[in-house]
Amino acid sequence: MELDDTICYCFHISKRKIVNFIRVNHPRRASQLTECGGAGTGCGWCVNYLKRFFAESQDATLADGLTPDEYARQRAAYIKAGHGKPAAGAIPLPDAPE
Ligand code: FES
Repeated sequence: MELDDTICYCFHISKRKIVNFIRVNHPRRASQLTECGGAGTGCGWCVNYLKRFFAESQDATLADGLTPDEYARQRAAYIKAGHGKPAAGAIPLPDAPE
């Protein structure tokens, strides 16, 4: 995924915002990434990825390896499986009607 790709669809937060938040604020725990615009506090889909970005900041050898489309499709499957409810105003699921 590129820096301008969306990580938190519920709150429209890019990977760049997350990476910069980590760089500037030096969170001690992954849960502190919620302070970056509420990331992870909507449907919960992106929480594991927030944890991965936090882990990557601690260990530069990890890589996400996902394309933005794969990431969006996996979130849609997560939502459709009933694991979380998108926040109001969230980016719609890829196959949702406009
Ligand atoms: S995608 Fe981040 S909380 Fe829903």
